[in-house]
Amino acid sequence: MTFRIGLIGSGYMGRAHAIAFRAASAVFDLPVDPELEVLADIDAETARSAAASLGFTRSTGDWRQLVADPLVDLVDITTPNIMHVEMASAAIDAGKHVYCEKPLAPTAAEARPLVEAAEAAGVLTMVGLNYLKNPITALAKEIIDSGEIGEVFAFRGAHFEDYMLDPSTLVSPWRFDPRSGDGVVADLGSHIVSIARYLLGPIVSVAADRRTVIGERTSSEGETMTVEVADEMDSLMRFASGATGTVAASWIATGRKMALGCEVRGTEGALVIDFERLNELQLYTTGQPVGREGFTRILAGPAHKDYASFVPAPGHQLGFNDLKAIEVRDLVEGIASPDGRPWPDFREAWEVQRVIDAIIASDGRGAWFDVDDVD
Ligand SMILES: NC(=O)c1ccc[n+]([C@@H]2O[C@H](COP(=O)([O-])OP(=O)(O)OC[C@H]3O[C@@H](n4cnc5c(N)ncnc54)[C@H](O)[C@@H]3O)[C@@H](O)[C@H]2O)c1
Repeated sequence: MTFRIGLIGSGYMGRAHAIAFRAASAVFDLPVDPELEVLADIDAETARSAAASLGFTRSTGDWRQLVADPLVDLVDITTPNIMHVEMASAAIDAGKHVYCEKPLAPTAAEARPLVEAAEAAGVLTMVGLNYLKNPITALAKEIIDSGEIGEVFAFRGAHFEDYMLDPSTLVSPWRFDPRSGDGVVADLGSHIVSIARYLLGPIVSVAADRRTVIGERTSSEGETMTVEVADEMDSLMRFASGATGTVAASWIATGRKMALGCEVRGTEGALVIDFERLNELQLYTTGQPVGREGFTRILAGPAHKDYASFVPAPGHQLGFNDLKAIEVRDLVEGIASPDGRPWPDFREAWEVQRVIDAIIASDGRGAWFDVDDVD
């Protein structure tokens, strides 16, 4: 079996994916080694230069050529959000497996046809919700599912960063295009909602508030633009399990660089995840001796899922690119095995997008909004 990759885009995520394909081959015993076949970017020269530095055999300035290329088995989409639907749709029509960055689409209504088309065509899909691949996130799920912290009744989650704090900086202008999704709600909200669903299961209704705090921004060329997307979001959540919670996101969270995390509370214990310390899980269990109660800091090590493939010694720390390599391992194994199905797939990305859409609808109405009422 061949597994030839066609990568579209070579920015932040394009590079991360290229590194991950190479790392996954080196770190894991993959059933088939991915081959970096062709890279497409905005023009031929950008594509040629990126292909040379990232190790792709060929390049093109036209992504449609890549999608139609008979040598490409998997189309990997790392372009701005607004292009995902058109590119993924063309790839599915061409019978290719598709790996796409989050958010899959600007709205659930645009994501759903991709889910249906991929399932009808029998092509396999994966979305880059990479924080679900952290061995520590998997450990948290194992602890919750085992009942070790009792009945889980509350989730407090947030994704806070401050890369948009400076009004004179337009970090990737496409992130401010409302057609790409609602600013931070799409950009960071998708990660924390995916973690909430992974750990506690389906979210049934939300009550949200979104704000644009910096109403005008200036580009590096000195042009002023009016901002129409959200800088911050807070939402109450009700889970199908009966648990309740909060989810927040901000890309102007002064001082925060990667404060993605959550606290999960159960009747017999609690968990804390903080991705600024992504190799640690804080675990509290009830019943500790009086005067000695406290959270235990569990440091990632070979006893945890996937860690030992990278390093045999505990406490030596995995990083972001390692999570991407785990994601690619799951993708390759899912595609190579007869009944395999990579996860999180387009269907899961659509479920996440329904929650995002419910957040936006709830804020618009100033009332609770059921996720099932999202089209
Ligand atoms: N999973 C994560 O943790 C994570 C982190 C950052 C970004 N992302 C997602 O990855 C995607 C890309 O984000 P980024 O930060 O890498 O953006 P970026 O701006 O750094 O890179 C985008 C790339 O797409 C290319 N491109 C633009 N138009 C194109 C076209 N018509 N044809 C071919 N290539 C084209 C650009 O030239 C560039 O190489 C977004 O959807 C974003 O939400 C995910």
